[in-house]
Amino acid sequence: MSNRPLNVGLVGGGKGAFIVHPHQRAIHFDGTRRVVAGALFPDPKIALEEAANWPYPIRGYGSYDAMIAANKTLPADQKLDYLLIVTPNFVHFDPAMKAMKAGIAVFCEKPLCLNLKEANTLVKTARQLHIPFGVAHTYLGHWTSRFARFIVRSGLLGDVRWVDSYYLQGWLATKLEATGQQQAAWRVDPKRAGGSGCGGDIGTHALMQLRYVTGLNVTALSAQMDRFVAGRQLDDHFTVYCQLSNGGKALVRASQICIGSKNDLGLVVAGTQGTLTWRQEEPERLTICLPNQPDRVYWRGAVTGGDGFLPKELPADLMAEPTIPAGHPEGFHDAFARLHRCFEADVRKWSAGEKFNCDGSQYANVQDGWAGIAFIETSVKSAASNGRWTQFPQFPKTLE
Ligand SMILES: NC(=O)c1ccc[n+]([C@@H]2O[C@H](COP(=O)([O-])OP(=O)(O)OC[C@H]3O[C@@H](n4cnc5c(N)ncnc54)[C@H](O)[C@@H]3O)[C@@H](O)[C@H]2O)c1
Repeated sequence: MSNRPLNVGLVGGGKGAFIVHPHQRAIHFDGTRRVVAGALFPDPKIALEEAANWPYPIRGYGSYDAMIAANKTLPADQKLDYLLIVTPNFVHFDPAMKAMKAGIAVFCEKPLCLNLKEANTLVKTARQLHIPFGVAHTYLGHWTSRFARFIVRSGLLGDVRWVDSYYLQGWLATKLEATGQQQAAWRVDPKRAGGSGCGGDIGTHALMQLRYVTGLNVTALSAQMDRFVAGRQLDDHFTVYCQLSNGGKALVRASQICIGSKNDLGLVVAGTQGTLTWRQEEPERLTICLPNQPDRVYWRGAVTGGDGFLPKELPADLMAEPTIPAGHPEGFHDAFARLHRCFEADVRKWSAGEKFNCDGSQYANVQDGWAGIAFIETSVKSAASNGRWTQFPQFPKTLE
């Protein structure tokens, strides 16, 4: 592949689509990746029109089947290096499977798919084919998420006792889907969204932030899933009390009916020696509270070791992350770019026949995606029996 930019193909993204745009901007951030092709819409004619009207030239296809089939005969420098899947949840499994089987790496939107059966098959296939597979849990890409992970996992706060991980929004406080609003319509439809609305859509982000920063897994849970808006089929409010793998406890909660809340994803990790607080709406900083000391506020780009809390030597890879000087704000697009940058590195190694990471330390992988789906399924089961404590499923032995 030499050092030519990686070629990315899009599945989804036409006609008023949302998340494709932050992704495609982030893909182009470094000049080392570019979008070259797309199957942008379910209707082939519209898919081709949308591709022709894309803001820069791309090869348009009438379907992702056609895009994957055409890839076989393209010259080496035009072949797709990875597929980005930005369709509603019910169109994740099929293109991901077909891409992997055609030897194309996959970066897929969250939640991974619709159910555990699909998730098991995706994990198994990615492993058997030994192919990079990323899941777009955006907020792991903030530098401060990486920094929080270092602080908590290196034991600077002692043992984790309690985590509050939340994601609050207000945009579904009314029956927006009845107006035909595109993003609302499929998110409240179990056939297209899966077994949970709010939990699947944003509760999985809160879960992933908890797992990424603490390294802990949920082992059992008690869930309540509410539908505040009359006539809605799926939950718009999701509250899950969790037992953690170290004996600690956590609350993973999400809501889409909190008027005024925008994308209020936050994490509070309370350890035996101190507490960390982080919010994605202010992703440039995190706060550490230690007993009987003034609060410490750390800003991305202005962190130095040996300050009485942090060790003198900070991890070289964390400090070497490409960033801009403190005070020039990084945000949502930077987080996406960091995920694509790390995924690119794995795809390049894989293409060169070298060992690649894809171990969840830099972006969520297919096994993390599996945990998100297991979390949804277990929550649905628990909520159906009025919040009964329910064991989180073991990762299948056959997939280990
Ligand atoms: N990581 C994040 O922060 C984040 C944020 C928003 C959405 N998402 C996820 O991204 C995905 C898309 O969400 P969205 O809000 O952008 O949805 P959207 O409705 O805005 O866009 C979906 C796109 O997929 C297209 N599509 C549907 N079926 C298709 C098919 N068979 N072939 C080709 N294109 C097809 C639609 O035409 C549309 O262009 C969802 O899985 C969602 O959960 C993630």
